[in-house]
Amino acid sequence: MKYILLILSSLFLTVCSQTISILSPTSGTEITPGQDVTVQLGFANSLTGVEHVSAVIAMINCAGAPCPSDASDTLGIPLFAGNYTPELHEGNLPPYQNFTVTVPSNLAAGTNMLTAAHFVLIGVSAVPVLQFDNVTVSTPSSAGTRRETSIRGRTVLV
Ligand SMILES: *[C@@H]1O[C@H](CO)[C@@H](O)[C@H](O)[C@H]1NC(C)=O
Ligand SMILES: *[C@@H]1O[C@H](CO)[C@@H](O)[C@H](O)[C@H]1NC(C)=O
Repeated sequence: MKYILLILSSLFLTVCSQTISILSPTSGTEITPGQDVTVQLGFANSLTGVEHVSAVIAMINCAGAPCPSDASDTLGIPLFAGNYTPELHEGNLPPYQNFTVTVPSNLAAGTNMLTAAHFVLIGVSAVPVLQFDNVTVSTPSSAGTRRETSIRGRTVLV
C-alpha cells in the first residue's frame, strides 16, 4: 500500500511539474488582427519519459466581455493544430518550439486570449494528459480592414 501511494504521489508530482507554457507572446502584448505572430510553446525539461503527441494554439475573441475561465469549454479559433516537438535552444529557456500563426482579422479590439492545449503521454505507463495554458493579449482599436477570418497556421521548422 505504501509503495502504491509512493508511486501515485511521484506520478502526481511528475504530471504537475511538467506543463505546457506560452513563453511568448507575454501577457499584455499587443496583437494586431491579420498579422503573423510567433508563439513560443515551452515544456520544462524532465527526467522521466515524455512523449509529446500534439498541440493546439487558438485565439479566444473575447470581444469586450470577460474572457472565459476554463479552456476545456472552448479553445476559441484554432490557429494551429499539429505536431509538437520542443527542443532545447537557449539554455535559459525550457525546450520550446516556435509556431508562426496568423491572428484572425476579425479579432475584436480590447482584451483577447491566446490559448494553448497540449496532449502528452507521461511515464513508462504512458499516462495520457491534456494540459492548457493561456495569455491575455491586447488588440488595439484601429481602422484596420476587416477581412475573412484566417485559420491558416504554419510551423517554423527549427
Ligand atoms: C487561463 O489561465 C489561468 C491561469 O492559469 C487559469 O486560471 C484560467 O482557467 C485559464 N483560462 C482559460 C480559458 O484557459
Ligand atoms: C523563437 O521565437 C523567438 C521570438 O520571436 C525568438 O526570439 C527565438 O530566437 C526563436 N527561436 C528559434 C529557435 O527560432
